[in-house]
Amino acid sequence: MPLLTLLLATPSQILDTSSDRRFMGTYSFSPEFEKRFLELEKKFPRRSSLVLWSLHLAQEDIGYITPEAVDYIAGRVGVSPAWVKGVVSFYSMFREKPIGKYHLNVCSNLMCQIMGADKIEATICDKLGIRDGETTPDGKFTYTRQVECLAACGFAPAMLVNNDFHETLTPENVARLIDDLASKG
Ligand code: FES
Repeated sequence: MPLLTLLLATPSQILDTSSDRRFMGTYSFSPEFEKRFLELEKKFPRRSSLVLWSLHLAQEDIGYITPEAVDYIAGRVGVSPAWVKGVVSFYSMFREKPIGKYHLNVCSNLMCQIMGADKIEATICDKLGIRDGETTPDGKFTYTRQVECLAACGFAPAMLVNNDFHETLTPENVARLIDDLASKG
């Protein structure tokens, strides 16, 4: 573990198995995700098709896509690290740094803009005290306005909270949603 990372890490990060693999500068799927990868391997005869799914597994496993995870997936699938990195940078659902437990991602496209996404953004930012791309100090919420059309234009404005859709947003129902999430811990 690099010295600076070691100094900044909490005891649980140092002891946690999945964090260890990340901090040690290496990565491999944890046993549960290895099992899921082996299942996926059977379904995709063309190995390059495994890249996207492997990235989803790695992100679920350790929270975001590290350079070590890129190298590992490239090796497991049999493509170059540049290929894997290209997929990571193309799709907005892949993260290259840690984010909060709840990721509020407001649709950035035209219909949501017309239907009041600015007011939704203002409510989120005021309530959480963060701006686009930031995470609350307690690590609970991250806000971005990054995702493209969620195919929910008829129910705009819309956003994702992690992988869940939330539509027909108003400042009031977004504020309530944040309160609910905050109370869940
Ligand atoms: S523009 Fe936001 S869901 Fe289509």
